[in-house]
Amino acid sequence: MSCPLHERIIFLGFLTLFAALSDSVAMCQAPKANEDESLVVMSPLPDPLLRVDGTRITDAKDWPVQRARWLQIIAEHEYGIAPTEKAAVTWELVEQGLMNNDKTKRQQFVVHLKTDAASLDIDFVLLTPNQPGKVRGTFLGLNFQGNHTIDSSPALRLPKSWVANDSKTGVTENRATESIRGAQDRRWPIAEINERGYAVATAYYGDIDPDFDDGFKNGVHSLFPLHRASSENRERWGTIAGWAWGLSRLMDVLIQQPNIDPDKVAVIGHSRLGKTSLWAGASDPRFSIVIANNSGCGGAALERRNFGEAVARINTSFPHWFCPKFQDYNQNESAMPFDQHTLLACIAPRPVYIASATKDLWADPKGEYLSGWYASPVYQLLGYNGLPSEVPPASDISVGDRVGYHNRTGTHDILSFDWQQYMNFADRHWK
Ligand code: GCU
Repeated sequence: MSCPLHERIIFLGFLTLFAALSDSVAMCQAPKANEDESLVVMSPLPDPLLRVDGTRITDAKDWPVQRARWLQIIAEHEYGIAPTEKAAVTWELVEQGLMNNDKTKRQQFVVHLKTDAASLDIDFVLLTPNQPGKVRGTFLGLNFQGNHTIDSSPALRLPKSWVANDSKTGVTENRATESIRGAQDRRWPIAEINERGYAVATAYYGDIDPDFDDGFKNGVHSLFPLHRASSENRERWGTIAGWAWGLSRLMDVLIQQPNIDPDKVAVIGHSRLGKTSLWAGASDPRFSIVIANNSGCGGAALERRNFGEAVARINTSFPHWFCPKFQDYNQNESAMPFDQHTLLACIAPRPVYIASATKDLWADPKGEYLSGWYASPVYQLLGYNGLPSEVPPASDISVGDRVGYHNRTGTHDILSFDWQQYMNFADRHWK
């Protein structure tokens, strides 16, 4: 049955109004965020070293079993379980050249992922110092707006996948535009990184999984349709788990490159992509350093502090980031069988670096720090030092041994100061 145009317009108008109303109702349902430290009441945290039977691990050789247990718990209750089936991973080099006054060698690949159900292409760029021999180490992380935004080089390819509409970036119709070429370069100080001998490898996160709630159908989820999360399968992978799985596939490609040392690849991410780097690093031990910048709720911050964003609000605003089961902990953090310090503990004994920004209360700087502190006993058991004190350091001071931390003066962002600390940390651990 066809419907006259004016009726269709009225109907669409109602739909839009209804969608907007239900959005604001959902936001109202999320409790008000607390950013007052004096109001924090934290229920006791699970002890990362306590076994299910109530006994405590005192020998390093027992840690791998305990780590596997935490990974299972965190997957099941927070990010969702990724499929165990594999996708075929192939890649081709589609462009290479020099940039940054010939100081940087650029290689652009297309990574093809394929299963019986679907295929997916990811544009992947590798920026190494233009020198012969292996690079000193590589920082692998996803970017928010496309590979062409990390530097103004005209050769960097525009994403072909979904991009968020945004009046600031001028993106309409969910397609990438030239207008924001280089717009994120403050977050990717490539010249500085290459000067210190390190490489940067990155891909656009939307190539792996578009960042909107579509019922877990598009992006990597399309490769494994039988593994989709639903109301019956509430513990299956959400979008953060999808991005993390994608990082592991990029790692598959990276370690095949002759100038890359596979033992010196750090996974790094900012904000939602910092949550992602933690989950990628915890689950894939090939990442020898893990870095989470301003990762906040669902990242490094302890959920039981209920400070800043908190579980109910993140699940309301971004229901697709986590598995549906995570919603059981909306305003119910003390019932979580884990907290984010157990996520950090799963990285041990590999080095992990957490960073906050002083004005980023939404991400709970103190909670981000304390997570590292409460993961530190696991590092100690394994023969290393984590963080030195329960008290966070003054701003702009980098502390810690295998667990590193700083709180940069300023707002939610990843800037040269942060990268300098990450490179110092890498210098130390990748001697
Ligand atoms: C929102 C969200 C955060 C997230 C951030 C980002 O602010 O609430 O959890 O870290 O977006 O990814 O930029």
